[in-house]
Amino acid sequence: MSVHHPSVQRVLTGITPSGTPHLGNYAGAIRPAIAASRQSGVESFYFLADYHALIKTTDPARVQRSTLEISASWLAAGLDTERVWFYRQSDIPEIPELTWLLACVAGKGLLNRAHAYKAAVDKNVAAAEDPDAGVNMGLFMYPVLMAADILMFKSHKVPVGRDQIQHIEMARDMAASFNHLYGEHFVLPEAEVDASVATLPGLDGRKMSKSYDNTIPLFAPAAELKRLIFSIVTDSRAPGEPKETEGSALFQLYQAFATAEETRAMRTAFDDGIAWGEAKQALFERIDAAVSPMREKYEALIAEPHVIERHLQEGAEKARAIATPFMAELRHAVGLRNLAVAFAPKAADKPKAAALPQFKQYREADGRFYFKFVDGDGRLLVQGAGFDSPRDAGRCVAALKQGAAFSMEGYDMQVDGASIGTLAAGVHADEVRRALAALAA
Ligand code: TRP
Repeated sequence: MSVHHPSVQRVLTGITPSGTPHLGNYAGAIRPAIAASRQSGVESFYFLADYHALIKTTDPARVQRSTLEISASWLAAGLDTERVWFYRQSDIPEIPELTWLLACVAGKGLLNRAHAYKAAVDKNVAAAEDPDAGVNMGLFMYPVLMAADILMFKSHKVPVGRDQIQHIEMARDMAASFNHLYGEHFVLPEAEVDASVATLPGLDGRKMSKSYDNTIPLFAPAAELKRLIFSIVTDSRAPGEPKETEGSALFQLYQAFATAEETRAMRTAFDDGIAWGEAKQALFERIDAAVSPMREKYEALIAEPHVIERHLQEGAEKARAIATPFMAELRHAVGLRNLAVAFAPKAADKPKAAALPQFKQYREADGRFYFKFVDGDGRLLVQGAGFDSPRDAGRCVAALKQGAAFSMEGYDMQVDGASIGTLAAGVHADEVRRALAALAA
């Protein structure tokens, strides 16, 4: 499952835990993400971006509560944690570590142009304040942390709202800079904005959003759900007067939860002058039917936070199985290295178009025939033993190229019990196996 096969599409998205999930989050993010995660050939990574939440709120209880509610919502909505990588950003210490490596290749000018930061500056300037008044470095670094989220897992696609497209472009930019400097480590991600995904209107008809205070909580108790639905703004048309579906928040909400057939029937009812109260009752019943089985699961989960915590811990373990070795690779790439490991030759400092490992055969002054096995950068991996004839040396090389199994006795490499060479200082046998596999491929 964790083998990164090129035909598998990795999809990743983050959810910032800074509020209570509402119907708009469900129809616009949770429902499509869960449906997408069930497709074959897709590996889905969904995580709680709690480091990002710290930029928006300084209320610790709110971060914790929102993390609990959002996790419970995704689980109650049917997320299969066996199939997807579902984790909490702050459980993956490699993410802030990668954030720093990326910060060191991100242009400050690039970040100056980030919409959220620019909006804050513009507002300050308009108010004749210091341009950076009230701006913390978290807000400024937001796109770098988000790039680390995405690049860590080599995601191909990032489903996001339009407001996030610029962040994905910045992640591509940082990935390309890093790859240029240090070799091809990162996949360049693409934003995926799905026009068919519903954007729901809120109680006042504007987009349902926490910032407009017009939301309907996804798991409000039925009575509260009903009360809120009955408070949706409608026009003053009386019962019997035909109603407009176009621009009707009520109709759009109905459509987001109804089948095509139910939607057609409601359209006819609007034409026929259904009373608003009746339409609201139908909407309440439709949404409640969709939500109530999930609400039961949600309430059970909220009552058992340790179950949710366990899901997240297991998810973190799965995610770190990818992040920890990848971070080790990146640390090595930038030169944060174990000093006991031999210095690579100068030429290896700048990666070229990934050259293949190779065997070199030669004759030594002692009259015997040797081979060396070097990696793509020319670094010695194996010093071959001396053979009496070039044919013997050639046979040994051919056997290794064809995948002959070797075993290790300390640093001594053996094929069928005979010593054929020695591992170079600081080289691990697995590295030799990988290099042989790369050559065979
Ligand atoms: N910035 C995103 C939002 O506010 C949340 C997020 C954080 C995210 N990291 C991400 C989304 C990585 C996609 C990929 O909606």
